[in-house]
Amino acid sequence: MFYHIEIWGCQMNEHDAEILSGMLEQIGYRKTEVLSQADVIILYTCCVREKAEHKVFARLGQLKKYKTTNPNLLIAVGGCMAQQPEMGEDIRVRAPYVDLVFGTHNIHRLPQLLEEAKDAEVTLIEVWDREREIVENLPASRMNKLKAYVTIMYGCNNFCSYCIVPYVRGRERSREPEEIIKELKELASNGFKEIMFLGQNVNSYGKDLARPVDFADLLLQADAIPGLERIRYMTSHPRDFTEKLINTIAGSQKICEHFHLPIQAGSNRILKLMRRGYTKESYLELIAKVREAVPQATLTTDIIVGFPGETDEDFADTLEVITKARFDQAYTFIYSPRKGTPAAEMPDQVPQEVKKERFQKLLDLQNRISWELNQQMLGKIEEVLVEGTSKTDPAKLSGRTRGNKIVVVDGPEELIGHVIKVKIEEAQTWSLQGKIIGE
Ligand code: SAH
Ligand code: SF4
Ligand code: F3S
Repeated sequence: MFYHIEIWGCQMNEHDAEILSGMLEQIGYRKTEVLSQADVIILYTCCVREKAEHKVFARLGQLKKYKTTNPNLLIAVGGCMAQQPEMGEDIRVRAPYVDLVFGTHNIHRLPQLLEEAKDAEVTLIEVWDREREIVENLPASRMNKLKAYVTIMYGCNNFCSYCIVPYVRGRERSREPEEIIKELKELASNGFKEIMFLGQNVNSYGKDLARPVDFADLLLQADAIPGLERIRYMTSHPRDFTEKLINTIAGSQKICEHFHLPIQAGSNRILKLMRRGYTKESYLELIAKVREAVPQATLTTDIIVGFPGETDEDFADTLEVITKARFDQAYTFIYSPRKGTPAAEMPDQVPQEVKKERFQKLLDLQNRISWELNQQMLGKIEEVLVEGTSKTDPAKLSGRTRGNKIVVVDGPEELIGHVIKVKIEEAQTWSLQGKIIGE
């Protein structure tokens, strides 16, 4: 029996998919990339922007034909898009050949749900309307043998006015630190070198736990685990990035000097409408503190253009802050209205052409900054964890610096999984090339 899984969205979804895979493998399924061979096809979906949703329906249309060649094939749709109210019914109507719709809160039920779906006359829909207790000890079939995702908390309480995530991922729930540390030790003993802590807002970690523990405490415990080389985390909210956290990172061995701090906009008026809880001034102060404590820090961000009511002046503020902040990279998005969020109902939605024009300007500015900052890397010696062969040139090796920049080098495949020293010799906007100078 074979399963095939397609994943949209963020690292949360990638890790959920590892757990779905783990559960299916435990009951005898094997993974396949050949659709005609699959007995189960799962689409694990995202709904943070509208485009992602359109793609899922288009993909379902393409998958329908495999049902005729394999009448036993089960098609399932899960994840954030499926978690939205009435989406299950919508899928049942628009794609009645779908066998199962499940949400984000009941992924551990997949094996049973597939069994039930086999006998169901119509699309089986099981979407829990809210989160329940965290289910621990689910198996995970990890996609990468060096880098592992470790969820430290689920959900989000922030309700930024544009964002659908709190509605589809529920309220914040932290895992007990003992569970997390146990998982880290297992990963270290299984040869994993890098871990990525996952949460929508990792610096809220622990606020909901009975015993007082915060994200900095957790990082400190993780830093002491032998065998692991690198610790990363995603995502931290600029409002909650404490001095304690900065100092913990500065004083640690393994926590990488990469700070991903989504700014979203550079206009205080828009930041307020977004309910982000900081101003451009306090944001710039925060990153100045980070750079003071960790001089080699790399900084990345997320930015949305075309939030409702964004004027030319507001957008000019964003460009100004981007110029001042000098991010190594920025993930830029065009605002997409999401049903049920306050921003979708706000007046003065920005026309698509204006959004596109602003998006392009932002991209041009950021690309120039990324290129300039990468040029400054020339001649520097960087620690690179070799992750595999390069996607663009399979004869070469590819890895990442502690600051999360991609570096391509010539070298033997035996170096995969090792941390090497590389002298940077060439630099582009998105990657660097270098020469190995030692281990
Ligand atoms: N929890 C993380 C990431 C959430 S989603 C955080 O708080 O940063 C990832 C990114 O998608 C966000 O940072 C934001 O830039 C973008 N995003 C969220 N909702 C969006 C929307 N409605 N339209 C466009 N981009 C959006
Ligand atoms: Fe969405 Fe804001 Fe929560 Fe991030 S912090 S997931 S942007 S609501
Ligand atoms: Fe998308 Fe859900 Fe992540 S909406 S961005 S997959 S939390």
